[in-house]
Amino acid sequence: MKQIVFATNNKNKLREMREIMEGLYEVLSLEDIGCHEDIVEDADTIEGNAKIKADFVTNKYHVDCFSDDSGLEVEALGGAPGVYSARYAGEHCTYQDNVDKMLAAMKGQTNRRAAFRTCIALNLDGKSYFFEGRCDGHITEEQRGTDGFGYDPIFQPDGYEQTFAELGHEVKNAISHRGKATRKLIAFLKDLG
Ligand code: IMP
Repeated sequence: MKQIVFATNNKNKLREMREIMEGLYEVLSLEDIGCHEDIVEDADTIEGNAKIKADFVTNKYHVDCFSDDSGLEVEALGGAPGVYSARYAGEHCTYQDNVDKMLAAMKGQTNRRAAFRTCIALNLDGKSYFFEGRCDGHITEEQRGTDGFGYDPIFQPDGYEQTFAELGHEVKNAISHRGKATRKLIAFLKDLG
């Protein structure tokens, strides 16, 4: 079986990817290849950070690798927090801190348009590829729902009355930025056979 490294140690992302890739690739984590370095993600774009992680692993371990990076872009905030979504409220903040900061920043704001974006960078057989997924919606006035993570309780995707945190995993995966980017990657790899 061909092997590919997914440059993450996030157990949920890994399990999901292993299920999808079953029979096609053996998906290895950073831990599986003994990569314990702290990879510094200091690019100022989502694409850049995805590429930093994939390139670090490919250059150091000489393996095929892909990596993902995501962020929330809010129109009224000029695209912020974007690549800084994880640490919007500070270096060691919680998901709730980020939600609170976003609701405060958007107080009284009438343009609430926002989009989640995911970029997957893939290094395969010496070539680099990118796959993007996007989900448009808006920032709600208040948080609703308990499913999911991050900004899910305050992001309502277009065409739905519920937030990501109310919609549940299955619906979210079908329409989310990460779901879309991942399906593009899978289709590409399946096409190669
Ligand atoms: P990552 O690159 O996938 O780790 O995402 C970076 C940050 O963006 C996360 O820590 C979250 O704050 C936010 N984020 C990414 N995807 C989602 C999502 O699907 N729902 C809510 N927040 C997300």
